[in-house]
Amino acid sequence: MQIVLNYLRENQPRFIRELSEYLRFPSVSAQTQHRKGVQAAARWLVDHCRSIGLDARLCPTDGNPVVVARTSRNKSVSPRRRLHFLVYGHYDVQPAEPLDLWKSPPFEPRIEGRSLFARGACDNKGQHFAHLKAVEAYLRTDTELPCDLTFVIEGEEEVGSSNLAAFLKRHRAELRCDAIVISDTGMPDLKHPALTYALRGIVALEVKLTGPSRDLHSGIYGGSVENPALALCQLLARLRDKNGHIAIPGFYDEVVPLSAYERRQLARIPFNERAYRKFLGVSKLFGERGFTPQEQRTTRPTLEINGLTSGYQEEGTKTIIPAWAKAKLTFRLVPNQHPQRVGKLVREHLKRLCPPTVRLEVAGGRGGEPYRVSPTGPMAQAALRALRAAFGCEPVLLREGGSIPIVSDFKRTLAADALLLGLALPDDNPHSPNEKFSLDAFAKGMRLGALLWQELAAAGEARRSRA
Ligand code: BES
Ligand code: MN
Repeated sequence: MQIVLNYLRENQPRFIRELSEYLRFPSVSAQTQHRKGVQAAARWLVDHCRSIGLDARLCPTDGNPVVVARTSRNKSVSPRRRLHFLVYGHYDVQPAEPLDLWKSPPFEPRIEGRSLFARGACDNKGQHFAHLKAVEAYLRTDTELPCDLTFVIEGEEEVGSSNLAAFLKRHRAELRCDAIVISDTGMPDLKHPALTYALRGIVALEVKLTGPSRDLHSGIYGGSVENPALALCQLLARLRDKNGHIAIPGFYDEVVPLSAYERRQLARIPFNERAYRKFLGVSKLFGERGFTPQEQRTTRPTLEINGLTSGYQEEGTKTIIPAWAKAKLTFRLVPNQHPQRVGKLVREHLKRLCPPTVRLEVAGGRGGEPYRVSPTGPMAQAALRALRAAFGCEPVLLREGGSIPIVSDFKRTLAADALLLGLALPDDNPHSPNEKFSLDAFAKGMRLGALLWQELAAAGEARRSRA
């Protein structure tokens, strides 16, 4: 094992160069103008996987291709006897806009201090790249891996992974595994590596109110006809009360309450409210009454307006009553809420609230389920040992507020749990301007990737011999 760790240490500068090359592709899945960047990133990744000794291929889907890269299987051992783990990641990234807020162009990676700045640096290219480099270290030093590995790196995570569930079903036999390792979440700081045991789910809706058949002169008609923008504001304002509760009947019915034990664990995570406020640029926090900020952002369901559009947005005044108003909403969900069921509740409630003066349309309703796994199982315990060894300090158990919708499909299709071992730091700015990845987290992540397989394979063997 020492030889693997030495290899990782000695090749650090090259790894950073390679990751920077990977980060140059503008693989923005949400924007059709970047289709080429998406394809090029996928092809580069396949070539890179091959160059480090993996059997890699590009698998087409109805959307962006999936990169599948496997360690070569030892034919002399019966395949059922070897443990098999998947490593999941995504090569697509969020849009980089607004570009003027970046200190340097998002697809021209730049190192400042111990950080590598670029769109996709932490979410998620840098994180799965650490695992690839760890496996490279095994292959290049001729160190035997104690298990088989398959990397599944997709290109549509940031737009909801709509084609990956079907892909998993099609490739179920090849992908059958003992657990899935995912580094696509965060950790509180380098002294607190984390095992994330819960993620929030999500459901996304678009609400449109239509009023007059065209924009109208607000002087001639104003006062006699509904203003859809105002109606939408009033409608949306009724969805949340002043205590931060979502005011939709039935919304909380399926929410599993936090146990006293969980609340104590969450309270152990370092949190400084002043620093948090300062980092976010707000003078006061807002959240659901009765819960700490940590609880609010990871264990409670929420409603956000992601975008709000109506009427005239350009320079100066234009005196109109807009013909329509639109809002994009997302709800974050927690166990045991369900995206379809919550979507239905919201639609029904909006219908009830909508005044007869406008026409309501609600589109969308797709989403991802929340996820939760026991942190006391043998695989989770093995992952915690690897975290401890890689980082040299005691790991914490986390719940995260973000969503990775595909983890519940992994569970459903492959009957395997996900081990969420995030490497992003709280100031890495995913989805924001000046996204970065810590080079120290990268180095520690590679160590984790090296130490993990011994621990997981041993735990898997033990679990098998007990069964
Ligand atoms: N890596 C994030 C998810 C994440 C971030 C989980 C931080 C926990 C902590 C992922 O790439 C992401 O952004 N997911 C989207 C999913 C959505 C597009 C369906 C999200 O959470 O908004
Ligand atoms: Mn993301």
